[in-house]
Amino acid sequence: MLTKTMKAIQQHTFGGPEVLCYEDAPIPELASGEVLVRVRAVGLNPPDWYLRDGYKMLPPEWQPKVTFPIILGTDISGVVEAVSEDVTAFSPGDEVYTMVRFPSGLAGGSQAYAEYVNVPVEELALKPAGIDHVHAAAAPMSLLTAWQFMIDLGHEVPNPLQPHKHEPVPLSGKTVLVNGAAGGVGHFAVQLAKWKGARVIAVASGAQEAFVRSLGADEFIDYTTTKAEEQLRDLDLVIDAVGGPTTGRFLQTLKRGGALFPVFPLGFDGKDEAEKLGVTVSSVQVRSSGTQLAKLADLLAAGTVRVGVDSTFALEDAKSAHERATRGGTQGKIVLTVR
Ligand SMILES: NC(=O)c1ccc[n+]([C@@H]2O[C@H](COP(=O)([O-])OP(=O)(O)OC[C@H]3O[C@@H](n4cnc5c(N)ncnc54)[C@H](OP(=O)(O)O)[C@@H]3O)[C@@H](O)[C@H]2O)c1
Repeated sequence: MLTKTMKAIQQHTFGGPEVLCYEDAPIPELASGEVLVRVRAVGLNPPDWYLRDGYKMLPPEWQPKVTFPIILGTDISGVVEAVSEDVTAFSPGDEVYTMVRFPSGLAGGSQAYAEYVNVPVEELALKPAGIDHVHAAAAPMSLLTAWQFMIDLGHEVPNPLQPHKHEPVPLSGKTVLVNGAAGGVGHFAVQLAKWKGARVIAVASGAQEAFVRSLGADEFIDYTTTKAEEQLRDLDLVIDAVGGPTTGRFLQTLKRGGALFPVFPLGFDGKDEAEKLGVTVSSVQVRSSGTQLAKLADLLAAGTVRVGVDSTFALEDAKSAHERATRGGTQGKIVLTVR
């Protein structure tokens, strides 16, 4: 029998890691079409610190309006505690993983830093066999992002940031550069490109070379000593898992007909140059999908795609996990564990 309260990380104001408080919160009530998951691990992602901070990098009119307290987080792995009457696909005791309500929950509606989370059934998938909750929780947002950019968008919902539909490009026999290759999205992008038969050039800081080569990178560039955009030409695809205003520097590295996929597209102002060079620039806003996570579970279970875990922290120590993220130099993902 469940008590009505749980422990969660809540915040009552925007700010730095110090605003994250471990305290009692109501256990979410199940609505139609939902599954209540007892959380075992929570994967961290940049939208967690963007929201913690009030999405300060967005123009004020785009900043989400929230009602405090809020609970951050989207990615969980855990065990089904209960299902609503109309759910037949999952049963109590099933081990599951998911990215909850993204982007619809971007203003605090996903609520993953908690002992219990309710999840729309269509966003849930069985946890990959043979990997633990920590590794499963580390995968959803980063891996779905790489998958939706590179392999299969998987939906028809328009992207508010661009007028055209995103189309993944063929990878077999192509040369693909992954910038930010040791990060959450980047380390999966390297592996998906290799899996599809591309030659992969990975860009990261020098300490990450062995890690990204172990994921399949054929060549490595240390961005702290070498400017990739000055070294490389005639690439087929650049996945820029750093993105932002500097992403346009990669246009010159691409052949006519090539593509630049900035994972963080805000600030790109090279549209005219891209047109002149015959390069497609396209981005995706990652969306929750239980169907895609079920496919990805097979790749994870087979070891075709591996999850890099940089570090783990107890849920109650979410503040230290956010401080770890702020320091940078992470190798894969940061994960919270829940007792
Ligand atoms: N479009 C979407 O739906 C979507 C989805 C997920 C994420 N994102 C965005 O994608 C970006 C990456 O997300 P993530 O989860 O992969 O973050 P992450 O785990 O923090 O990875 C970012 C990586 O970029 C590296 N980096 C930083 N500056 C660099 C530079 N100048 N050159 C090369 N590498 C550099 C970092 O390495 P060091 O720390 O060693 O510098 C880190 O490994 C974020 O901006 C995030 O908001 C977008």
